[in-house]
Amino acid sequence: MWLCGIGYCALRVGMRTSNSRRCPVPTTVSFSSLRYPVKMSNRSVEISVVRFAVAILTLALTVSPALAEEGGFEPFEFALIGDYPYFPRDYVGIPFLLDDLREDGAISFVLHLGDLHNPRFTACSEPLYRERREWFFGLGVPFILTPGDNDWADCAEDRLGNLETIRSLFFADPTRAEGEDGFSLRSQSEGEEFPEVVENAIWERNGVVFATLHMIAPGMNPLPNETSETRGELIAAAEAWLDEAFRVAHQGQARGVFLATQVNLWPLSGNPEAMDLVHPDLIGVNTVFAEFEERLIRNIREFGGPVILANGDTHYFRVDKPLVDPYREAIQTFTRVEGFGSPHGHWVRVRVVPDRPEVFQFQQELVPENLYTRVSRAERGDDFEEFGLGRRKIILRIFQATPKLLAVVGAFAIVLWTVSGIRRLRN
Ligand SMILES: [Fe+2]
Repeated sequence: MWLCGIGYCALRVGMRTSNSRRCPVPTTVSFSSLRYPVKMSNRSVEISVVRFAVAILTLALTVSPALAEEGGFEPFEFALIGDYPYFPRDYVGIPFLLDDLREDGAISFVLHLGDLHNPRFTACSEPLYRERREWFFGLGVPFILTPGDNDWADCAEDRLGNLETIRSLFFADPTRAEGEDGFSLRSQSEGEEFPEVVENAIWERNGVVFATLHMIAPGMNPLPNETSETRGELIAAAEAWLDEAFRVAHQGQARGVFLATQVNLWPLSGNPEAMDLVHPDLIGVNTVFAEFEERLIRNIREFGGPVILANGDTHYFRVDKPLVDPYREAIQTFTRVEGFGSPHGHWVRVRVVPDRPEVFQFQQELVPENLYTRVSRAERGDDFEEFGLGRRKIILRIFQATPKLLAVVGAFAIVLWTVSGIRRLRN
């Protein structure tokens, strides 16, 4: 038990705190039992003392240790990072990003949205992942990772071996957020259905339920069968874990739910009506995530409170409302936040204010040393080479031009056919 439990609310009312109105009225403990009557007989003193002892015992049994430590539904902050470093430029920027996080002083933990590196530039290897672990476990606050495709599925070789390496290094104890002042987590691997998925976690803090869901993008290149199968199993695990997160949120009467994954389910988003008009097939998610999206909508509606899904993947900081139901209505209580990513060495501060209706607030944290675009590329004269879409862009342009090309050829053929028909008629 946790959150706004009976004991906690009784404690708040007993202390006459101003925020106690938000706690549900307890049904098993009378608040009056915590107060002494003004005039008391010996009998009434005895009864009151007994009642008081029972109330204290109830408090002890119902207030979770974490809640007591954290002082209830106080606001708190944490950091979102991910998809960095990739390019040579990022290796100049990463110490500044790490310093910025280490020196912040206000964040309670760091949540990494996956992609510890880019396998096109740095080979997947245990020494590389050990280095990443040293960076992030040394930030002075607890660190939680949800892995990305670059961390195993996009490796040049031994993809499943790399997944095992990530699991052994970052989730050696899946029941704890590692790093300084680490805290308890519940891992999906503790259940019977997905014992290997150590990386999916649920934890609670000050009235908010957090869950990490290991899901990666289908990718531009086909994956080998075994990798593709593992990705499918991970999606099935994430669907089950999503339901579990909302079950926990319901049970604890959570103020909000914060989900985190690597995959960007909605790479292109915008006003639903405009999207429907111009690109109706871009609304919604890739078919492999259709079941996940359906469950997400169902859970959000049943929960009723604010729900956030944080993702990485496309390296484009944004806060938007991309989740649309089959009637093309955006789900208002749902918000997506995407973190920064290479080549942008910055982070997102999430402020959680459980007593506000929207609960979650987002603030971009720009690391001054990494704002290299203050000067144009021509003026900088640096020789950092970054990976662009390059060849893919050329192929895409050819595809995009094909209908126009076919239309021109068709029109030309119709003109030729008409002219030749007219000539035949004349002859
Ligand atoms: Fe990425």
